[in-house]
Amino acid sequence: MGSTGAGMSAVEVGLLLLFALTAGCCFGANVTYDQRALVIDGRRRVLISGSIHYARSTPDMWPDLIQKSKDGGLDVIETYIFWNLHEAVRGQYDFEGRKDVVKFVKLVAEAGLFVHLRIGPYACAEWNYGGFPLWLHFIPGIEFRTDNEPFKAEMKRFTAKIVDLMKGKKLYASQGGPIILSQIENEYGNVQSDYGSGAEPYVKWAAAMAVSLDTGVPWVMCQQDDAPDPIINTCNGFYCDQFTPNSNKKPKMWTENWSGSFSSFGNAVPYRPAEDLALSVARFYQLGGTFHNYYMYHGGTNFGRSAGGPFITTSYDYDAPIDEYGLLRQPKWGHLKDLHEVIKLCEEAMVATDPQTTSLDSNLEATVYKTESGLCAAFLVNLDMQSDATVKFNGNSFNLPAWSVSILPNCKNVALNTATINSVATISKFVRQPSQEGTIASDAFISGWSWINEPVGISSDNAFTKLGLLEQINTTADRSDYLWYSVSVEINGNESKTVLHIDSLGHMLHVFINGELAGRGIRSNSGHEVSRDVPISLIPGENKIDLLSLTVGLQNYGAYFDTVGTGVTSPVQLKGLQNGSTFDLSSQQWTYQIGLKGEELGLSSGSSSLWVSQSDLPKNQPLIWYKTTFDAPTGSNPVALNFTGLGKGEAWINGQSIGRYWPTKMAPTSGCSDSCNYRPITFPVVGCSKVEM
Ligand code: GAL
Repeated sequence: MGSTGAGMSAVEVGLLLLFALTAGCCFGANVTYDQRALVIDGRRRVLISGSIHYARSTPDMWPDLIQKSKDGGLDVIETYIFWNLHEAVRGQYDFEGRKDVVKFVKLVAEAGLFVHLRIGPYACAEWNYGGFPLWLHFIPGIEFRTDNEPFKAEMKRFTAKIVDLMKGKKLYASQGGPIILSQIENEYGNVQSDYGSGAEPYVKWAAAMAVSLDTGVPWVMCQQDDAPDPIINTCNGFYCDQFTPNSNKKPKMWTENWSGSFSSFGNAVPYRPAEDLALSVARFYQLGGTFHNYYMYHGGTNFGRSAGGPFITTSYDYDAPIDEYGLLRQPKWGHLKDLHEVIKLCEEAMVATDPQTTSLDSNLEATVYKTESGLCAAFLVNLDMQSDATVKFNGNSFNLPAWSVSILPNCKNVALNTATINSVATISKFVRQPSQEGTIASDAFISGWSWINEPVGISSDNAFTKLGLLEQINTTADRSDYLWYSVSVEINGNESKTVLHIDSLGHMLHVFINGELAGRGIRSNSGHEVSRDVPISLIPGENKIDLLSLTVGLQNYGAYFDTVGTGVTSPVQLKGLQNGSTFDLSSQQWTYQIGLKGEELGLSSGSSSLWVSQSDLPKNQPLIWYKTTFDAPTGSNPVALNFTGLGKGEAWINGQSIGRYWPTKMAPTSGCSDSCNYRPITFPVVGCSKVEM
């Protein structure tokens, strides 16, 4: 039409606005790579990335988390896709609410950041069953993560589903969107040798399948030394400076730099000092790296039953630069922000040439990126863990604290030393807020409780009977953490004191004799089975033995992790009966109930008529449902619930599960010792552990 300015039609205005929006956002249509870096629209880039798993926070938190990532100097947000979240039932997809990954990717784009989408679809990630849906396990003839047709068919279908979803919304950079990178599989190289002859063809197939989906952006495989071209193999770990890709045509990339670690119930809360984390990042860029990702930048929360296991906690805080609640963890966040600014000052020199490293003395080195056109950036390094050092570089003296890197973006002045923190440390504290009636919220909590007793043993019409002991996951399909095993024993003559011996692969076990709790067993974090000898008294006549076996998050890592069973295996024996004999109950007729009565009744919605509200609230008893109401604190700050005083269970707010709690399985009381400082104690693992109170 050729009209401009005031004469423009509505349609033209719309088109112009659209153009302005896409042009304003920095996404390249063309992402490739060479031996130095990812190349976006013809330009090599030094990129700083951080992991935020969308399902570990709420959509309300996403904009703030993304903004804080941007403010912290990130270019890229990396997330896994969790298959079992989106396809809990085969063929029924769910991308709503916390599962709305499209919305998450769009929000990242709106902030002007890129996305690395790790489709997997195996994730690991301390996520229940590594992200695999349980129904996958029941497909006849299936074997996970190997050259197996039923598995490959499902993996391809879901991977294609995600790629199509993103393509449909034009979210790949090749379409003008933010996704510059995708990952297929996850750390398969770590377990590959266990999968024998099926492993190599599987890796080749996965690579070819991914490439065939035609995303227009590169694919990576992490910890995969034999990643087939054109897939880039990348490094995961606490330090990746010594890593080299499997071809001199691929850039050096780090997909997981562990900013701390995950927590398990009963273990110390992991902590990685900001100085050590900064050193690992600086070392990577010093030695030719151009893409680095913090795993995690915000760890978040394992809501519902999404935690992997066994024993992964509900908190996935990870000691990340942004804490579980979305607050800046200082000085970590600030120190890394400073580091990112300085690395960006070096970007031009870094992408223009290869680094040249000179040894200055033992544990001391200098790396220079220098071009003929006069660009120069330098990294001075002291790898001694005890002693500071002074080095001579370009005619000047530089003091280098132990275990540190100094960065000189102009090869003359030190812009940052990784062991010297300029950010202020802050400690976030929770405060109690008075409720609207003027009472402290936690006091209001004490009153107004109601409860329902969960019956011991079989109470559901859906119970069933089988000869012998059943493996738990095959029985429950993970529909619940709980499986009741129930058997009756006839005792002739007098009361008898005996011992019930139980072997279980289960994560946890409660033993009830004639309705009374007689003993408990918990599998150790190092993975041993539960084996218990429980002293019991049996009465003349019929006796009921009810075993409640619990899972606390399904395993997510290791070769064949998907086939590791749980539950009461065998034997289950009565030992030392009056006549000194042993009676094996293992192959008796057992009755099974999947899940609790309260789960069947949907008590988590809170709306049942069975709730009892009397002043004699039962305490210190197993198997009770509790309920209360409280006013939400005002304002928009994060709210935390303190579960101290409760045993183990799961909590819901307004019908939504916020995860498992288990305050009685506390972290050990030994924390950081005096010798615990920013230098790693055992190389190369997390510097030290602290105990969270
Ligand atoms: C890696 C894995 C991640 C996560 C991490 C530990 O091996 O790729 O998904 O599990 O370990 O937090």
